[in-house]
Amino acid sequence: MNLAVLASGYGSNLQAIIDAVDRGEISGRVKTVISDVEEAYALERARRHNIEAIYINPKDFPGRKAFNEAIAALLEEREIDLVVLAGYMRLLSPVIINKFRGKIMNIHPSLLPAFPGLEGAKQALDYGVKVSGCTVHFVDEGLDTGPVILQEAVPVYDDDTVESLHERIHRVEHRLYPRAIQLFIEGKLSIEGRRCYRNEG
Ligand code: GAR
Repeated sequence: MNLAVLASGYGSNLQAIIDAVDRGEISGRVKTVISDVEEAYALERARRHNIEAIYINPKDFPGRKAFNEAIAALLEEREIDLVVLAGYMRLLSPVIINKFRGKIMNIHPSLLPAFPGLEGAKQALDYGVKVSGCTVHFVDEGLDTGPVILQEAVPVYDDDTVESLHERIHRVEHRLYPRAIQLFIEGKLSIEGRRCYRNEG
C-alpha cells in the first residue's frame, strides 16, 4: 500500500511511521510526504530516508479549494491508498475528503471529543483534567470529528507543563499511529456510522 503523510511541523509521528515501515511493522511504504510549511522538519526527515518531499505553498493558490485540489491531484497521481495526517495543521476541504473517504486518518493529542482543534495538551491542562491522551480517527468534514480508530489515555500530573504532558502524549502517539495504519492495511477496520469496528480473522 502507498501511504502519503501530510505534516506541517516537526514530524516525530512521521518518523515513528518510517521506523515502523523499516521494522516491518507497517506493510506499506511512505510514498510521499507533503507539507504546507517550507521549513517543516518533516520534509527533512523524508529527504533523509529518500522519500519524496513536497512543499506546497497555500499562497500560490487563489483559495482553499484550489490548494486542496492541487493536493488531491498529487495524491491521485501517486496512487495513494491511505492519507496520513501527522501534525498537519489545516482542515482538509471536501475535494480531498470525498475522493479519499474512509482512507484518511488523523492523530490528535487528546481523548476526543474533548479538546479538538489546536493545542490539545494545553487545552487539557487549562481545563484541569486528570487524564488525557491521544486519538487516531478517520477524517470527515468536521474538526477532529470522524470515527475513532484507537485511543489511549495518559495521566495528567500536578506538576505537568504543556511540554511535559505533550511529550507523554507523543510517546503514546508514536506507538498508536503505526498500529492503526497496519490495522487499515490488513483490512481489519470497518466503519458503520460513527463507529469504527476492528475485525479480526
Ligand atoms: C502531534 O502531537 C499531533 O497529535 C498534533 O500535532 C503533533 C505533531 O507532532 N496534531 C494536532 O494537534 C492536530 N490537531 P509531530 O510533528 O512531532 O508528529
